[in-house]
Amino acid sequence: MPPCPPPPSTTEDCKRRAAEAAVAYVENGMVVGLGTGSTATYATAKLGALWQDGALSALVCIPTSEKTAAQARALGLPLGELASHPRLDLAIDGADEVDLRLNLIKGMGGALVREKAVERAARRFVVIVDPSKRSAKLGTLSPLPVEVLPEARPRLALTLRTLGAQVTLRGGDRPFVSDNGNPILDCRFDGGIDDPAALAHRLDREVGVVGHGLFLGMATEVLVGHPDRIEILRPAPA
Ligand code: A5P
Repeated sequence: MPPCPPPPSTTEDCKRRAAEAAVAYVENGMVVGLGTGSTATYATAKLGALWQDGALSALVCIPTSEKTAAQARALGLPLGELASHPRLDLAIDGADEVDLRLNLIKGMGGALVREKAVERAARRFVVIVDPSKRSAKLGTLSPLPVEVLPEARPRLALTLRTLGAQVTLRGGDRPFVSDNGNPILDCRFDGGIDDPAALAHRLDREVGVVGHGLFLGMATEVLVGHPDRIEILRPAPA
């Protein structure tokens, strides 16, 4: 009987491959940011396995959510806090959408505020995705998550509508609550976001916005896991 062909590669395989390729950048003694989401979970799992095997030592891991902290803790990884480690060597995280300039939408996992704080503090921010996350224009694949103070939610929903968004409260009648205790408004823009930098600037100045999922100019590399290879993308020099 001829040998069975290997099973087709799935999206999960692509995520895992990208995640494991990123973990190869981790060196002894590094302060490493651990992302949140299904792709980042593979990276934390791989890092935990290397740590348990003794292949890495003297790490400090800064988790971007309670969920990631729990996973890292269960693997025995040494955890630290951003407050006491304000400079990271490397952060590894997934994304909901990646455009041609390697700008990102993040936050569909609800951890965008801590993710941005940790990843801004990293000398190297490696994004790990499967090919489905790439798009020509941000906002065409994913809504833009905006975390807001509970008191400011009704006013900010109106403001976001005037900016052209169709706004949905995440969780609906049973609103999602972030690790920071806040709701998230998911904002869909018909035809995508025309000027992500202008929108980010506007949202950064809006009182009551705790954070938004536009991560612009932050990724130093994007690793795209394909069935047969890892594609490494870097931002074009300015
Ligand atoms: C978490 O808040 C998000 O930013 C995730 O990093 C992002 O949603 C990617 O998640 P997946 O890897 O699960 O697609």
